[in-house]
Amino acid sequence: MTAFDLQQYLDFAYIAAVVLFILSLKFLSSPTTARMGVLAGEIGAALAVIATLFTPGLHEYRWILIPLMIGAGVGVPLGLVHMTAVPQRTALSHAFGALSAAMIGIAEYYVGTAPVTRFEMGEIALEVIIGSLTFTGSLIAAGKLQEILPQRPIVYRGQNIVSLSVLAGAIGLAVALVVNPPNALLFPIMVIVALIFGILLVTPIGGADMPTVISLLNSYAGFSAALLGFVLNSKVLVVAGALDGSSGFILSVIMCKAMNRSFANVMFGAFGQVQASAVAGKEERVVRSATAEEAASILSAANKVVIVPGYGMAVAQAQHKVRELYDALTKKGIDVRFAIHPVAGRMPGHMNVLLAEADIPYDRLVEMDEINGDLPQADVALVIGANDVTNPAARSDQSSPIYGMPIIDVDKAHTVMVIKRSMSPGFAGIDNPLYYLDQTLMLFGDAKQFVGAIVRELGGGH
Ligand code: TAP
Repeated sequence: MTAFDLQQYLDFAYIAAVVLFILSLKFLSSPTTARMGVLAGEIGAALAVIATLFTPGLHEYRWILIPLMIGAGVGVPLGLVHMTAVPQRTALSHAFGALSAAMIGIAEYYVGTAPVTRFEMGEIALEVIIGSLTFTGSLIAAGKLQEILPQRPIVYRGQNIVSLSVLAGAIGLAVALVVNPPNALLFPIMVIVALIFGILLVTPIGGADMPTVISLLNSYAGFSAALLGFVLNSKVLVVAGALDGSSGFILSVIMCKAMNRSFANVMFGAFGQVQASAVAGKEERVVRSATAEEAASILSAANKVVIVPGYGMAVAQAQHKVRELYDALTKKGIDVRFAIHPVAGRMPGHMNVLLAEADIPYDRLVEMDEINGDLPQADVALVIGANDVTNPAARSDQSSPIYGMPIIDVDKAHTVMVIKRSMSPGFAGIDNPLYYLDQTLMLFGDAKQFVGAIVRELGGGH
């Protein structure tokens, strides 16, 4: 095969990879096709890697295969972590991706064949800065989520000024390098300053805001890879990086919108500290609680039940018990649907993934906007470990930190039952007036155990 033929095959493989990446994103947008989306992405990535291995002029396979094996050795166990550890695992993947982008940029600067031009220097500097800050930022995010580092926002006076000065330092060094690319002394200093900025960027953000931050870091890693594609003249990398960067960015915007918060509030708001006022003043208000037996008899008498899962269901790993509850109720001819809030839980699609794991039919999962219209007709809204996403203060209390956040209108249902362990607030650290309404019954206990107890009362389960 001549070099020309080979290049044609390689180009074709790269185009196929790009098409598969685009299809992957398309398929990932619906739970019914998500698995196909993952497969399309995997085949696309494998195709791109294999095609790259056939690049004309590549002889040193040893230095490719050894890191490939090390990467697989680290990647396989990472892929097998438990569902609840997926956010930190994702953060680690971004850290590794960003590190590799930064290291290739560094290699291009030091060992690239021709001396770098000013334009190339600009590309390399930008790519290495984004890659480096994404690397350390993602490591801090993973550490917070794994609780190796303190989850709470670490804030001090003048913090933003310090962080922005460090960023300005990295950009200043990059500009100096663009003016004089051979000034090799400045390059490692720029890398170190960018690494420090990544730490400063994420440390002040609370653990619970990490999913949004991770999504943002994901988009940085993608953009860094796209810039690397320009440096290496690799079109597939430009496209894959741009897809990754833009989809991560769109996801971050969706998450911010669903929480009714701005990027600035997520990045600098030190959100997630429990407010002192959260628990104050509620002593006089009456809270009614019920047992599993009472809850079972109310559910048995209902025609329409809407289940609202939240973070507590994920923590308790109650999804399989919830499936048993769904089976027991549908057996009695009761219409059961699940209301999915876009930011219920701690990562995008958290509830969809858990409910899919328990084989709950997709058509029973209804998005917030759609289910809200039906809630006034629901006999029972059963909230399982959700709190903020059901808080009516978001609609009515202008002083509430979550004012304006769209919620699932469970308070409009005839009866509301809430499974949680205590009166503690949720992620936003605020009290929930839902718990004091006349039609609300609190079912105090662990979600898995309480749902299990209801299922037993209903005569279902294993
Ligand atoms: P939260 O408001 O965090 O409330 C979860 C509730 O679950 C808590 O009030 C807790 O009460 C209860 N709980 C914890 N462990 C439990 C267990 N073992 N059994 C039963 N209940 C348990 O959750 P949510 O309603 O899903 O809202 C999500 C929040 O996270 C929103 O504020 C959202 O903005 C934020 N957030 C989400 C995302 C994404 S992408 N999903 C990203 C960043 C932030 P007890 O302690 O009393 O049991």
